[in-house]
Amino acid sequence: MAATKGKLVVITGTSRGLGRAMVEEFIRRGHTVVGCGRSTAAVAELAKRHHAPHDFAALDVVSDEAVQAWAKRILQSHGAPDLLLNNAALINRNAPLWEVGAQEFSDVVDVNLKGVANVIRHFVPAMVARRSGVIVNFSSGWGRSTSAEVAPYCATKWAMEGLTQALAQELPSGMAAVPLNPGIINTDMLQSCFGGSASAYPSAEEWAKLAVPFLLKLSARDNGCPLTVSGAAMD
Ligand SMILES: NC(=O)c1ccc[n+]([C@@H]2O[C@H](COP(=O)([O-])OP(=O)(O)OC[C@H]3O[C@@H](n4cnc5c(N)ncnc54)[C@H](OP(=O)(O)O)[C@@H]3O)[C@@H](O)[C@H]2O)c1
Repeated sequence: MAATKGKLVVITGTSRGLGRAMVEEFIRRGHTVVGCGRSTAAVAELAKRHHAPHDFAALDVVSDEAVQAWAKRILQSHGAPDLLLNNAALINRNAPLWEVGAQEFSDVVDVNLKGVANVIRHFVPAMVARRSGVIVNFSSGWGRSTSAEVAPYCATKWAMEGLTQALAQELPSGMAAVPLNPGIINTDMLQSCFGGSASAYPSAEEWAKLAVPFLLKLSARDNGCPLTVSGAAMD
């Protein structure tokens, strides 16, 4: 078993955006990070920058087999996560629902909903066996409200709220599952849906300075509560 430091934090989608920024902030605070993303170049860059016990793997959360193999390896080498952050997601290109092709709609559902279920299926049994740990499923303001041209994304984020609250009712006491609205942050995803006005919002690095301490404080008391990262840096 790898000698981990601090909490063991598993994060999906660490190539870019919020996931990438959380890696740096958790490690800076002395915690151990296990991450994944599809980009082999981004994974190689992370692995070069952060050595063991940190661990970065190139994989697609849509593949149940790939997630199963990843979880098996990590549970053997590192044990069960203290924090499991389901962050990886896609947004559809802005368009009315009737103009979103079947493949693009499926891709958004596959990553944002089935990918999260895959990660839960293979990591959470070890957390339940230990009766500890917090699962954070990244939702959105668009998991609690809606806008035109992002219907597929809204559908998956509203689903994330329901999935997470049902999961919360299944966990043993001592654990928590939380749907989290991270706020509005200038990432590739925001630039896709907001265009040029995305630059008015905080960077992922600024957000992570606020979000990581917020995530580290989550406990069994938060089980089933829809939460939002908010504070000075997000105003
Ligand atoms: N930015 C915002 O303002 C905002 C607002 C509300 C909610 N959120 C939520 O916050 C989370 C992070 O968003 P973000 O803005 O950081 O998005 P982003 O910049 O688009 O980054 C998404 C990350 O997910 C990874 N990813 C995508 N599909 C994947 C797959 N199939 N398997 C593994 N990794 C995958 C991407 O890496 P690869 O391409 O290398 O796989 C990337 O690292 C998402 O759940 C999003 O819905 C963001």
